[in-house]
Amino acid sequence: MAKYNNIVILTGAGISAESGLATFRDEEGMWNKHRVEDVATIQAFARNPEYVHDFYNEMKKDLIKVEPNAAHLAITELQKNYPAKISVVTQNVDTLHEKAGNENIYHIHGQINQAVCMNCGNVLTTWNDVTTEDVCQQCHVQGMFKPNIVFFGENLLCMNEVDALLRSCDLFVSIGTSGVVFPANTFVRTAKYYNADTIEFNLKATANNYAFDRHVIGKAGETFPKFVEELLQETKAVADI
Ligand code: OAD
Repeated sequence: MAKYNNIVILTGAGISAESGLATFRDEEGMWNKHRVEDVATIQAFARNPEYVHDFYNEMKKDLIKVEPNAAHLAITELQKNYPAKISVVTQNVDTLHEKAGNENIYHIHGQINQAVCMNCGNVLTTWNDVTTEDVCQQCHVQGMFKPNIVFFGENLLCMNEVDALLRSCDLFVSIGTSGVVFPANTFVRTAKYYNADTIEFNLKATANNYAFDRHVIGKAGETFPKFVEELLQETKAVADI
């Protein structure tokens, strides 16, 4: 008998920090080095698609090389050994959850190794560069691919599925997100409204601090695997009674 039947794990850039990736809003963060208005809005892409493609093509070259860390691997451990439905809702465009062998992953902010044709919606998965020269294999129109990254002002991906998960989960876990970007920062309140237990793993208190039942301060690569171990031991102890 497990305590939880339906677990949702929301992740942000902090879970990938120990894999060597920069977060967005910390001191060395991405948004302290680049302007959102130049690379992460649909207006920026319309103004200068070559520049925006170059930016994400470069990011892709870095992200293909990184490896998952102990926190990503602990999710796999939990999914393999804990008898519940366990979903991963990530704001991260890296593919470290996939590399770690996680399952049931929802990339609400898109993913770096994809581009979407703005003409027909065809999604291309590739680690190669994507440029304005590319022709869509589905509608045969050139220059309509956009990185499949959700820019500021765009709708998030797979939100119907995620909303249903939030309403039905009994444990909501947040790992390494600052809780300032809408709508992911509202997920904890939805889960709480539907009576889930809520727990946050972060280096420090976040903007969403008040909404969580429990906070675990520290590096996710250290704190989250311990939590997984506790959950698995609790379940084993109940099974042994
Ligand atoms: P942020 O950079 O806003 O926040 C990262 C969080 O991770 C901070 O709260 C840190 O304290 C925490 N953190 C850093 N290292 C950690 C570690 N080793 N263990 C635990 N926590 C750690 O990143 P996000 O919240 O993910 O959107 O940002 C949300 C969105 O804003 C991103 O998905 C991105 C950005 O604009 C898109 O790219 C579409």
